[in-house]
Amino acid sequence: MTVASAAPRSLAADTASAVDDTATLVAPLTAGPGWAEEIRRLARERDAVVLAHNYQRPEIQDVADHTGDSLALSRIAAASDASTIVFCGVHFMAETAKILAPEKTVLIPDARAGCSLADSITADELRAWKAEHPDAVVVSYVNTTAAVKAETDVCCTSSNAVEVVESIDPDREVLFLPDQFLGAHVKRLTGRQNLHIWAGECHVHAGINGATLTAKAQADPDADLFVHPECGCATSALYLAGAGAVPAEQVHILSTGGMLDAAKNTTKATVLVATEVGMLHQLRRANPDVDFRAVNDRASCHYMKMITPGALTRALVEGRDEVHVDAATADKARGAVQRMIEIGRPGGGE
Ligand code: 13P
Ligand code: SF4
Repeated sequence: MTVASAAPRSLAADTASAVDDTATLVAPLTAGPGWAEEIRRLARERDAVVLAHNYQRPEIQDVADHTGDSLALSRIAAASDASTIVFCGVHFMAETAKILAPEKTVLIPDARAGCSLADSITADELRAWKAEHPDAVVVSYVNTTAAVKAETDVCCTSSNAVEVVESIDPDREVLFLPDQFLGAHVKRLTGRQNLHIWAGECHVHAGINGATLTAKAQADPDADLFVHPECGCATSALYLAGAGAVPAEQVHILSTGGMLDAAKNTTKATVLVATEVGMLHQLRRANPDVDFRAVNDRASCHYMKMITPGALTRALVEGRDEVHVDAATADKARGAVQRMIEIGRPGGGE
């Protein structure tokens, strides 16, 4: 297994996007009375659609036109009629929207909102890995820079990673990157032995560990477990099921959109949720009768939380921070991203 680069960069050095790193958080950090109406008015004025990932602050999720998982938001961005997309999420998500819709203006309310997982592989590292496996098909998780996507055959998200890998000729080697936990999950489900996994991780999900999950599940043996496949505890969840410590039907390895669908259908009084804590807001809205509890209530992504109400207001008033992906990189990356949005069932938010 290849070892990923150690220190996360705040924004990937090889990204082809122009990023204004002088951006500052803008007051008010909390949404006051009338703020949501003002955002809706400004969005109309700018012909903008506001998209929010499930990990965004609750007030941002509530004001957005669409809230969803990475796959759902990419599909909505590609299909939208609006001339401007305001992406309340992290930088690679806004870049993906720009790759899919190069004619649109794409804004992110704070361009410093990076991603430690996207930072765990550079385009140079990928090129070197490809040179070791010249006939392999490259599958990149959407949590990658545009420059890495430009070196990729097909992108995937957590909600369609298995289907994407299953769509590839079983005799071809696959390079799967950058998330090692999602890679292990895909390898388990597909049984594919010729799948090589990059050893990257997201610092938020890797911090949700097996010991904590096991203790919480044992304290509440009737609870359903919703586990994001990026989590370090995904293997432990399946081990608990395999060992009979938790009935297998109570363990669900799901993307954030998949969690929302499962939330509507659970018959349990309590659900233990192993993912970034922003997800709890959508889950509680989807099924207010259920007690959704974080497995690790400190699992908060500070990049996602950079998108404050003040930053969203500034984005709509000042038209910043604009996301650019140079045309050559976008053209090279587009096929892989388009294949991603064509594969798999609709995700949460669609
Ligand atoms: P999904 O919304 O696709 O499950 O992704 C989770 C994530 O970590 C995004 O950064
Ligand atoms: Fe990246 Fe992890 Fe934050 Fe998602 S939660 S944006 S994978 S750092």
